Amino acid sequence: MTYNATLIPGDGIGPEVVAAAVRVVEATGVSFNWDEQQAGIGAYDDTGNPLPQATVDSIERTRLAFKGPLTTPVGTGFRSINVRIRQLFDLYANIRPCETLPNTKGPFEGVDLMLYRENTEGLYAGIEHFDERLQIADSINRITRAGSERIIRYAFEDAQRRGRKRLTLVHKANILKETGGMFLKIGREIAPEFPGIEFDDRIIDNMAMQLVIRPSEYDAVVTTNMFGDILSDLMSGLVGGLGVTGSANVGKDCAVFEAVHGSAPDIAGQGVANPTAVVRSGEMMLRYLGENGAAEAVRLALHDVYSDAKALTGDLGGTATTTEFADALVDRVEAHSA
Ligand code: NAI
Ligand code: MG
Repeated sequence: MTYNATLIPGDGIGPEVVAAAVRVVEATGVSFNWDEQQAGIGAYDDTGNPLPQATVDSIERTRLAFKGPLTTPVGTGFRSINVRIRQLFDLYANIRPCETLPNTKGPFEGVDLMLYRENTEGLYAGIEHFDERLQIADSINRITRAGSERIIRYAFEDAQRRGRKRLTLVHKANILKETGGMFLKIGREIAPEFPGIEFDDRIIDNMAMQLVIRPSEYDAVVTTNMFGDILSDLMSGLVGGLGVTGSANVGKDCAVFEAVHGSAPDIAGQGVANPTAVVRSGEMMLRYLGENGAAEAVRLALHDVYSDAKALTGDLGGTATTTEFADALVDRVEAHSA
């Protein structure tokens, strides 16, 4: 079996970390037919379009993409291509697991959290307006019943599959009474369908504080788009930084796997970026495809390389290059796949 997948190396450190992750994923023996396509600032510079039609057509065809980070101009310029891809293919669930690997310098040991972020609406729906004369800017925080139900149900079902015991819904319903209020109400409606999972809720600001003092109290979190964006970076910080957390964007019959981090322009081109985040996304992709043995080999290999600590990258206090880290990982993946 060979899987057709769209491969988007992306901007900044993207091509370096994606190349490393592709080697690791392929070392499991699972075979991919990669359709390499452009997106991001590089695509914009080359073709005048940050999301060329050929890239959209490719994902339309494969329904599966493995991608590097894309640079988005801040404040002005084209809108985020990541957000556009998620909206175009209705990838409503963004799943971001955060697990401590050995020898990472996070402030806690043994963090193991799942984050489910709504991925298509909320403040990122792109409904923005600027009144030049009055100098007033608006961004509409659109929350729908259908959008809330599907992410909350996805979170419960996935949490259950993973044997999680508790799901915490994060909101700001005390202030955002309509949007946050509806999201919370729907969570409470759905919770009784999953008696095996304890359900509770937290207000976002309190949750941010709770997570940095006692993350072990939490298990899985479901939240709206922007809160999920912010909390997932916070959670990455609990387990060693942005270099180590992967993510999946999943819709009904299409999925895109990518790191949580961005294009890291400060270290791009130096061959020192940590590819773990994209590798973890690759592990999630293998699991999504039902290649559980291969996914497990990647997971075990990561634990080996981190326990051994001889081939860690600079963000974790090591001196290995991206390629040296990938070499060590490929070696261990092969050992676990044999
Ligand atoms: P960033 O995640 O690119 O970098 C933040 C910090 O983390 C930097 O110091 C960077 O060196 C470090 N870092 C990130 N990934 C790393 C890795 N794999 N290994 C070692 N260190 C790593 O966030 P920033 O600087 O806010 O954004 C840069 C660009 O990336 C922006 O244009 C932003 O829009 C874009 N971005 C794209 C995302 C995507 O394509 N999914 C997600 C987040 C940001
Ligand atoms: Mg983000």
